[in-house]
Amino acid sequence: MNKIKTIGVLTSGGDAPGMNAAIRSVVRTAHFSGLVVKGVLRGYKGLLEKTIIDMPLRSVSGTLQSGGTILHTARSPEFREDAGVELAKQNCIEMGIDGLVVIGGDGSFRGARDLSLKGIPCIGIPCTIDNDISCTDYTIGFDTAVNTVVEIVDKLRDTSQSHNRCSIVEVMGNNCGDIALYTGLGCGAEAVIIPEVRHDLERDVLHEMREALQKGKTHFIIIVSEGVTGERAKHRKMDAFQLAQYIEEKTGVETRTTVIGYIQRGGKPSAKDRFVGSMMGSYAVKLLKNGIGNRVVVMRNNKLMDYDILEALSMNKTIDFEVLQTLNEIS
Ligand code: F6P
Repeated sequence: MNKIKTIGVLTSGGDAPGMNAAIRSVVRTAHFSGLVVKGVLRGYKGLLEKTIIDMPLRSVSGTLQSGGTILHTARSPEFREDAGVELAKQNCIEMGIDGLVVIGGDGSFRGARDLSLKGIPCIGIPCTIDNDISCTDYTIGFDTAVNTVVEIVDKLRDTSQSHNRCSIVEVMGNNCGDIALYTGLGCGAEAVIIPEVRHDLERDVLHEMREALQKGKTHFIIIVSEGVTGERAKHRKMDAFQLAQYIEEKTGVETRTTVIGYIQRGGKPSAKDRFVGSMMGSYAVKLLKNGIGNRVVVMRNNKLMDYDILEALSMNKTIDFEVLQTLNEIS
């Protein structure tokens, strides 16, 4: 492998709070290590279109606390084709990029693997609010998103309580129920509906609600993951509004739906996301500096380590059933 002198950094896929912390750390660590850094704008699209900027030390000043991504992001279907990856490789060579840090989700890592196989070493950093990447316990952005949802649900509880209503809250997460599960526990939801569990609505929700009503409960919060009721759900039976109608018909409790949507992706990153972003950014640059590519930085049991991208992509993600069990016991 050739000596790495210049590295590129890009953000790809859905943005997430903490992306800037990771970019900043990549830039600062690279300068500290005597490397030149270039920023690729709009993810892999930018590699194909050569929208590439210099990133001097001060280019990341004041960005640690900001949401979104200063490098912008995009989803790039062209990059799924071999011709796209080949063009990206040629552009890297032309622009003098010897190695690349890719900050994003597992779709972004597929691109990083393809580019690595063509001889441009890439390191992936897991960054998505969904926490849906199998190889790591944590993805940058998850903590901030969960805090955002908890804050919103606290407000919804006020009005649900006042009106004796049931609130259905649809949260993001793609096909992973982690945002729903962790916010469910964090805000004391009465039920959580996630794609990883085969739910029986009658048993898990309606029966529980009727029993609680008999004991004097007057309002309910039900968190449902978009992986169950959202447009891209794999086995959608009803959307969140139809679910509300169904629950109202079956229990007699007036029910309203709130789909939280993109608010979950914005906002100042939490301390945890700034911390993990900074640590992972630095780790990624050190790998590249040592001539190591085709790896993804992960967090396992609160320790940073790295996996081969191919191996990382083949792992299966499961939810933490202990969290679900606790939620069911104390809700
Ligand atoms: O991956 C993050 C995420 O926000 C998912 O939770 C959601 O399903 C998806 O991105 C939305 O993607 P888009 O920005 O393409 O609408």
